[in-house]
Amino acid sequence: MSKRYGPTLALDDLTLTIAPGEIRGLVGENGAGKSSLIKAVAGAMVPDTGTVTIAGHRLTTPIPAVARRLGVSVLFQERQIAPDLTVAENVLLGALPRGPLGAVDWRKAYRIAAAELERVGIDLDPRLPAGRLTPAEQQSIEIARAISRDARVLIMDEPTAALSGTESDRLFALLRSARERGVAVLYVSHHLAEIFELVDSVTVMRDGRVVGTQPIGTVDLDQLVEMMFGRNLDGEVAELDDAPADGEVLVHADDLTVGNVLRGVSLDVRAGEIVAVTGGVGSGRRELARCLAGVQRPDRGIVRVGRGLRRIRSPRGAARAGVAFVPEDRKREGVFLELDLTENINVATEALRRSPVLRPRRRRAVGDRWIKRLGVRAPSASVSAGALSGGNQQKVILGRWLEADARVFVLDEPTAGIDINAKLDIYELLKGLAADGAALVVFSSDFEEIRLLAHRVLVLRRGKGPTWLGRKALSERSLFETGVAP
Ligand SMILES: Nc1ncnc2c1ncn2[C@@H]1O[C@H](COP(=O)(O)OP(=O)(O)OP(=O)(O)O)[C@@H](O)[C@H]1O
Ligand SMILES: [Mg+2]
Repeated sequence: MSKRYGPTLALDDLTLTIAPGEIRGLVGENGAGKSSLIKAVAGAMVPDTGTVTIAGHRLTTPIPAVARRLGVSVLFQERQIAPDLTVAENVLLGALPRGPLGAVDWRKAYRIAAAELERVGIDLDPRLPAGRLTPAEQQSIEIARAISRDARVLIMDEPTAALSGTESDRLFALLRSARERGVAVLYVSHHLAEIFELVDSVTVMRDGRVVGTQPIGTVDLDQLVEMMFGRNLDGEVAELDDAPADGEVLVHADDLTVGNVLRGVSLDVRAGEIVAVTGGVGSGRRELARCLAGVQRPDRGIVRVGRGLRRIRSPRGAARAGVAFVPEDRKREGVFLELDLTENINVATEALRRSPVLRPRRRRAVGDRWIKRLGVRAPSASVSAGALSGGNQQKVILGRWLEADARVFVLDEPTAGIDINAKLDIYELLKGLAADGAALVVFSSDFEEIRLLAHRVLVLRRGKGPTWLGRKALSERSLFETGVAP
């Protein structure tokens, strides 16, 4: 298949075959063409040339419903959740059970939906509106939906970006049992550790082409990275310097409590310090992030931030005190798909500082600077954000908040969906912010990220007290060995 978007050749004469009963990994840098390939197979995009064949049936009508009837079930990279519909409607989208007269049989719908959710290990009221759920819960709905259909081909585009370790393990078990049933699975991820854990073989894409396909046992991490980027990344990670012990305290949270999720958590973060927070769904990590950013009021306890440690009570108050917040939900609320990259990057500073709008040339310079520093892959800063790949959209949103000239950064999964080359650049950037005197709180479920970035780690667990780990204890192994890994 080939597919061109203006100057960009998203797919360049690409050929790929997947067998029944195989889990195939698909990797490649942000903008390599992975999602484009998936959209074509799902009938959601029409390639300029080339064809898709599912079990001998050629997909002649590129319509999602037709692909689905041929057995293609996809979890797309962008969230596909209707926030106003119930959980059940979202799980069963387009397949609600109907009675003899054609009316929806709601009792049955709720029952089926609850059962599907239970299969992916999530206990949710099927009557709730989906918009009230956390990103991880929404992601679980999408997984339940994708896996519940009678799939012949199951495609997952970055399914674990919003999930923690335990939830990912459950997903892997479901994918392995799909493989046992003879389903062909295509699995896209930037978590290369997952690729090695899950897949039978891996295909690397670069610039819309297949660089190669290998049984997973025949490649190691370095080789895979070299195939992805055309070079290895050795020596690109600088050792993390110790945080200065005498930095000014810029974040002071005391005895924060939200319902029975977050229980009496206290933390102080000094200028120059990067603290990581990790924890699964229901551990209170989401609530902690939101409290630190003034988005949510704790039931008990206080948050003080910035110079002079001002107490914050609202997002605006937090922003004025110098807090930049990159929320977990940025996929949904973050990027303005219709606006160009310059607008997307400048929007936060202008809103928060209440400063007069910058001159066009200044704004363009700001946009260009972040596009360059974060390696955003785009023809120019004047394309709309909707024309970027998922990972490149994430970089743009990150740039928006890094530009916001803050003293305190609260970053929830800052590199979700970003390829590992760009991740390393972002780590250097974040370390640079700390070195310049900012305090960073990074919420992350990526152990490698925590290891490379954090001076200290706060581990939150559902129903248990918080645990702190120092730098020395920070190998991925020890997180598990100490029994505190979520
Ligand atoms: N609707 C569109 N309009 C213009 N360009 C597009 C569009 N969709 C994708 N592209 C371009 O096609 C290329 C491939 O994008 P694609 O989304 O397939 O990448 P990807 O491998 O999925 O990346 P990521 O890891 O960031 O999700 C990118 O350069 C992207 O900017
Ligand atoms: Mg993609």
